[in-house]
Amino acid sequence: MIKKTILIMWVLLGTLKIAFAHEGMWLPTLLKKYNIADMQKQGFKLTAQDIYNVNHASMKDAVVLFGSGCTGELISGQGLIITNHHCGYDAIQSHSSLEHDYLTNGFWAMSNQEELPNPGLAVRFLDRMEDVSARVFADTAHLSGDALAARIAENIRSIEKEASDSGSFEATVKPLFYGNQYFLYVYQVFTDVRLVGAPPSAIGKFGGDTDNWMWPRHTGDFSLFRIYANKDNKPASYSPDNVPYKPKKFFPVSLGGIQEGDFTMVLGYPGRTSEYLPSQAVAQILAQGDPDKVKIRDLKLSILAEQMKRDPLIRIKYSAKYASTSNAWKKWQGEMKGLIRLNAVQMKKDYEARFSQWVNADPSRVAQYGNTLPRFETLYSQLAPYTKAADYYQEIVQRGTDILSLAAIFDTLEKRWPSLSTAEREKMKPALLAHLNEYWKDFDQATDEKVFAALLNLYHNDVDPKFQPEGFKKLISSLSPTDLQTKIYRKSVFANQAVFEKTMGQLNDQNLKKLASDPVLKLYRDLHDFYATQVEPMFMQLQQQIEQNQKTYMGGIMEMEQGRPLFPDANKTLRVAYGKVEGYHPADGVTYTYYSTLNGIMEKDNPDVYDYNVPQKLRDLFAQKDFGQYGMGNVMPVCFTASNHTTGGNSGSPVIDANGNLIGVNFDRCWEGTMSDIMFDPDRCRNIVLDIRYALFIIDKFAGAGYLLNEMELKK
Ligand code: ARG
Ligand code: ASP
Repeated sequence: MIKKTILIMWVLLGTLKIAFAHEGMWLPTLLKKYNIADMQKQGFKLTAQDIYNVNHASMKDAVVLFGSGCTGELISGQGLIITNHHCGYDAIQSHSSLEHDYLTNGFWAMSNQEELPNPGLAVRFLDRMEDVSARVFADTAHLSGDALAARIAENIRSIEKEASDSGSFEATVKPLFYGNQYFLYVYQVFTDVRLVGAPPSAIGKFGGDTDNWMWPRHTGDFSLFRIYANKDNKPASYSPDNVPYKPKKFFPVSLGGIQEGDFTMVLGYPGRTSEYLPSQAVAQILAQGDPDKVKIRDLKLSILAEQMKRDPLIRIKYSAKYASTSNAWKKWQGEMKGLIRLNAVQMKKDYEARFSQWVNADPSRVAQYGNTLPRFETLYSQLAPYTKAADYYQEIVQRGTDILSLAAIFDTLEKRWPSLSTAEREKMKPALLAHLNEYWKDFDQATDEKVFAALLNLYHNDVDPKFQPEGFKKLISSLSPTDLQTKIYRKSVFANQAVFEKTMGQLNDQNLKKLASDPVLKLYRDLHDFYATQVEPMFMQLQQQIEQNQKTYMGGIMEMEQGRPLFPDANKTLRVAYGKVEGYHPADGVTYTYYSTLNGIMEKDNPDVYDYNVPQKLRDLFAQKDFGQYGMGNVMPVCFTASNHTTGGNSGSPVIDANGNLIGVNFDRCWEGTMSDIMFDPDRCRNIVLDIRYALFIIDKFAGAGYLLNEMELKK
């Protein structure tokens, strides 16, 4: 009997251990308490203080939040940072013109003077973070509802104000575990960040959307920037007098390469995960949310693809739009497959059964948590139709077509115009003009009107009639898709640059008034106003109730799991993930090795396929096997996979070896593991990393910018 219990315990512990290996995006300040022993057991040679320390330079001082949603890391004592090509993409594109097409040809500053400033781009260093839950919850015990929310908001404001030190720092308090805890994050923000180098897209985006989210991968997804500071090494807005920033810490770069099984760690800014959802939420994502969004984007992408194939100019105009539409579209499909394969809904139900058992074992728990799971059941079933309406509205009306997005801007403008002062009106014009220039540059009427007709029809067919405005229903039922193009779309001032400029040449009362009768603006208004008044309020209210309930559920989970380290869902704050360099089995009978090489690039090489057209210079370097100190003998490594738990926002993150050296730059995840935002599978969730040796090889041998390596600390 005893033996049997021990055996069961052993099996249970065993599965638990396996199930949680390598999962997690951990808080840098809690590594010492929760993770460091395990990390060291897995091979890490340094200490928790080497990663995060407020009194001495530590790794956190070499990592930045790059722009609004990526990560970057310092690789020299002169402010040099490396991030992904797709993270620097906007900056690279903004400097590109027909004469200087840096996206196509790459860009390399050959001296500091040639580096290019990027207005609007900022990097943030985490100065410190701390648990401020006690202060946030101070004097709240007797409050509930709106009064509680107001007090919490007030407490947060005062903490932020104090920590900002009269504006020298940016201070934000963020909820963790759905508001069961709050942490303060204090940042130093640098805004003079200059472009130093970027490979051509045929390297930096090699494989394009075809290979996106997939292994094997061969993308040289990196770009280089430099942070500038004033003479006191402090943040300053752009000035030619600024000097390269001297960081407290930068990563030595490893030339030593990687072996299967090596310890590896990722420091970065993961954006958003939902690991603690109840079964109903996961079931809804699987049965409704993901399939709806995939269906809508399927339709849009098929039209874009056909048009892009037809005309190279349309390809240029729509390639960025195609990429951003296809990125999430592809991920959702992988996510569904992964959740089904994991039997995720059942796993959640099993967990909930365990939770209920724990709750029912104690009357005080019943009082506190007894309602939580049944409440999810009710709330999620109420939410489902609203989520559907909201998804269709977002995907079609808000971001489905060019013309409706432009109409949206003018709808807001026209509504606000009367209340704006002359000065305010003038101030707003340059930004609007810049936006319009970008808009027309990448606009193709024939393409957009096809998308418009197809998506609006889908809206009419799929959205519950009670969530569609009457006027819209009548209009669509009376028009064929071709009519939608000729009688609505082409009659709009937003359909054609020349007409638009003639009609809207001047922004004034008279011209804006004319918009009232514009058929596309009228259509947009009808859809928007109906959504904003008839759908959104209830949708938001239900979501708030779900969030409240999720907070309670999370609190229960934390209590039940006491002792077992839990990581809070990603919220775009600095986290540490650790695991191993390792391949995986994507399917029965199939094994993926953990690294890819330049040989694979040459195998994919095909001048007729846009995504696989290898630059001649790279072909030559390959033929000569001219890999210098970066190759493994005759072979040039390109990417590798590891079992670090990452998500969107981790792009550009440093991938670190056991000794704290940079071995790669994170940029993606494997197809079979994209459900890791909802449920992590240690067997199949892998992050995809650019091998740093390939980046160095491209900088030195391909671009001839080897001078940049002089400022790095290369470790053999
Ligand atoms: N899948 C990667 C991440 O989510 C890379 C996206 C950029 N590349 C692309 N082909 N769209 O963001
Ligand atoms: N490619 C993602 C990013 O841009 C990373 C990921 O989702 O794994 O952040």
